[in-house]
Amino acid sequence: MHSKSFIPPTRTLMGPGPSDVHPRILSAMARPTIGHLDPQFVAMMDDMKSLLQYAFQTDNQLTIPVSAPGSAGMETCFVNLVERGEKVIVCQNGVFGGRMKENVERIGAIAVMVEDTWGEPVNPGKLESALKEHSDAKVVAFVHAETSTGVQSDAATLCEIARRHDCLTIVDTVTSLGGTAVKVDQWGIDAVYSGTQKCLSCTPGLSPVSFSDRAVAKIKNRQSKVQSWFLDLNLVMGYWGSGTKRAYHHTAPINALYGLHEALVVLQEEGLENAWERHRKNHELLRAGIEAMGLELVVKPEFRLPQLNAVSVPAGVDEALVRQRLLEEYQLEIGAGLGSLAGKIWRIGQMGYASNTKNIVYCLSALDAVLTSMNAPINSGAAVKAALAQLNL
Ligand SMILES: Cc1ncc(COP(=O)(O)O)c(C=O)c1O
Repeated sequence: MHSKSFIPPTRTLMGPGPSDVHPRILSAMARPTIGHLDPQFVAMMDDMKSLLQYAFQTDNQLTIPVSAPGSAGMETCFVNLVERGEKVIVCQNGVFGGRMKENVERIGAIAVMVEDTWGEPVNPGKLESALKEHSDAKVVAFVHAETSTGVQSDAATLCEIARRHDCLTIVDTVTSLGGTAVKVDQWGIDAVYSGTQKCLSCTPGLSPVSFSDRAVAKIKNRQSKVQSWFLDLNLVMGYWGSGTKRAYHHTAPINALYGLHEALVVLQEEGLENAWERHRKNHELLRAGIEAMGLELVVKPEFRLPQLNAVSVPAGVDEALVRQRLLEEYQLEIGAGLGSLAGKIWRIGQMGYASNTKNIVYCLSALDAVLTSMNAPINSGAAVKAALAQLNL
């Protein structure tokens, strides 16, 4: 067989991630590969650590990208901070809390689940009760921005409760970082992980993580070896640690790291607060258009993630066909519902570089056109006008 080069189509990515990659990042990734121990590369790594500290709003020394996607960042936090037999309170209000449980159990630790309805935030009162009942718990884990539902939980309050009960916290910020506030030091988060493919506008495949001094102390004083060799931070730090002397641990994904570095420079140039504000404003455009169409956002306004919008599918509409037609006819990707919300919602992202007026207007008009052609019960033609009205507010 004689295969040809793969030339992907040009799409507009407005699903739950990956989202559109900034062209500056793609061109940074095409720069020449140098060695992972080259002094110039090592200098770039140090700069990247400072940029990540800025993105996470932390002074934590142990702030680095894990060489694998968000799931590996999640696993890094769990395998390093949790030992066999320990009790972990896992708050679940969507798909990704379920993966945290899976991580805890694979370590041979005990997951105590605090469950909330999908589409609702994690309930601080329930966490407090669970911690009173399980005073031997060592760690509290929760997802700040549940991508499966578009809900944001109150990370500051949840971390404060955990700390009062002498627990370390593991917080998932895969969808929040760069899109809404993530304040690691101010909120007292002990271990945090994210992903590159969402509001950082980068390609998938890396996971920024950061660990507080309390978390590092626990890692250094473990009774047992970390079960994963690749994710053992005691070893990884030999490469990512400070000073000019770095030891080989694994061959770093050099060009992917150029991309992340550029993404963080772009974020710094815009300014974190400005990036959060851009996502908030563009969410208002999308919300106004969706509501003018007669569709509903599933999540209550106070818990909504601006960058990920769960929209209810109108009665009688084949939701998969709508997504398929958007992709084929408009080169536009939006996401489906997961788990108990499968078939009931669409997930419309406006993350990072993809969060702009042009994309929102394009998405609303394409959705309007497809639904109108399917005779769906919507107010045809109203969405774009309503969205643009927000620009004048
Ligand atoms: C909240 C959350 N956690 C973890 C992950 C896993 O990240 P990845 O797919 O990069 O492994 C995702 C991915 O969408 C996510 O949204």
